[in-house]
Amino acid sequence: MPTIELDRVILRTLLKKDANDFFEVGKDPLTTEFLTWGPFKTIKESRTMIKFTYFRRLARQEPIGYAILDKTNLKMIGTIEFHTFNQKLNTCEIGYVLARPYWNQGIMTDCVKAMTEVAFTHLGIDRVIIKHIRENMASQRVILKAGYDFIEITNQGFFHPKTHRFHDVYVYEKWRQQQ
Ligand SMILES: CC(C)(COP(=O)(O)OP(=O)(O)OC[C@H]1O[C@@H](n2cnc3c(N)ncnc32)[C@H](O)[C@@H]1OP(=O)(O)O)[C@@H](O)C(=O)NCCC(=O)NCCS
Repeated sequence: MPTIELDRVILRTLLKKDANDFFEVGKDPLTTEFLTWGPFKTIKESRTMIKFTYFRRLARQEPIGYAILDKTNLKMIGTIEFHTFNQKLNTCEIGYVLARPYWNQGIMTDCVKAMTEVAFTHLGIDRVIIKHIRENMASQRVILKAGYDFIEITNQGFFHPKTHRFHDVYVYEKWRQQQ
């Protein structure tokens, strides 16, 4: 995957040595509130996630995922990744997380725009999908600001292991020719 330099951050392939910084990102209960994983209690958990979620993708010949680095100090402050590839439909989804001190500065919107470009130009994907649960309004703003189109709501489409209930899932798409 190409390393990408944006205004405030650099996207480079996630490395095993990012486990300490990833722990700092993922130990925050608010940051991980809407995510299926976390909050991390130990660095072993962030290490395990890098190994078994991100690096396992190599065996399927899928990209590991990007670490988002603060350009001022090269600290890893989040991740953005492709997941749920559908080879038949030539689609994939994007997922992301950013450390709380960096929220609301437009960073993830820039990252999603860049990632979408990577999907189309580098991976040859036809259609990128992003989803969020109804309650995640910040993620919705990111998706819309990045130019995605709303498709549908899957009512009660996701059982959240943290809330122990079903949540409505909002689904968005962007097609290659729209770029
Ligand atoms: C979602 C997340 C990635 C957003 O990253 P970010 O860099 O702060 O996003 P941006 O700054 O590009 O845009 C955030 C937008 O959401 C808005 N926003 C933030 N909190 C909000 C809220 N509770 N309700 C409504 N809008 C909200 C901001 O005002 C901003 O919109 P604006 O530019 O129109 O003012 C970040 O909050 C995060 O990592 N959250 C935890 C992990 C997560 O939810 N991942 C996505 C799972 S689908």
